[in-house]
Amino acid sequence: MLKTLIFAHRGASGTHPENTMTAFQAALDDGADGIELDVQLTKDRVPVIIHDETVNRTTDGQGWVKDYTYEELKKLDAGGWFHPAFHGAAIPTLEAVLEWLAPTSLLLNIELKNGIVRYPGIEEIVLKLIKKYDVKNRVIISSFNHYSLVEVHRLDPDVETAVLFMEGLYEPWEYAKALGANGLHCFLPVAVPELLAGAAKAMMPVRPFTVNEDQHIRALINGCDAIITDWPEKAVIIRKQC
Ligand code: G3P
Ligand code: CA
Repeated sequence: MLKTLIFAHRGASGTHPENTMTAFQAALDDGADGIELDVQLTKDRVPVIIHDETVNRTTDGQGWVKDYTYEELKKLDAGGWFHPAFHGAAIPTLEAVLEWLAPTSLLLNIELKNGIVRYPGIEEIVLKLIKKYDVKNRVIISSFNHYSLVEVHRLDPDVETAVLFMEGLYEPWEYAKALGANGLHCFLPVAVPELLAGAAKAMMPVRPFTVNEDQHIRALINGCDAIITDWPEKAVIIRKQC
């Protein structure tokens, strides 16, 4: 039977401040198979892990990520907004995460943020780091910017990519193949039986996001290749019961 993998969305973000080292360590401790994280570039083109294009929601700072140098960005508190116990957690670099992840057996889903704010060349910068830490066979690069996926595939066809999408695409497995992509990361409501069956027939892995409610976890465990969840600890327990 298909074993559905569990990816911790922005780390164990239900219990820890998203996209921080403490959230990634918690995901590993919870027994997740992989982590998902979001990459953007600072003003001096350092790849950093943060979801929003501004630092406003998840730090004590204000403004666009792209307008901060890394030296400035690393001084921000990315933990206190979630709970005072996490005060002082920093925005990690992608390099720091890769250095930490390399000796583990975790899988890594790197989402390239390249939408509202454009980061020309982000694909090449990220691929270089993946190569440096020799984790190519454990990485999936996804993006809502499908031009970025084509660029990743052009630069290194051996790196796995996945199409991120919100709405019901017609035969998304055919679309993904046309881009040279290897998987589908769809918004949870789109992960209907027809999509799962069509993708399975086309041998295209499906990893829906964000699968947080017990009933959704139960419905998808053993029904798709992976789920992306804020609550890896709970998902691991449910998987054991199914
Ligand atoms: O990669 C799945 C999911 O993270 C995509 O949406 O907005 O949480 O980055 P978002
Ligand atoms: Ca993401």
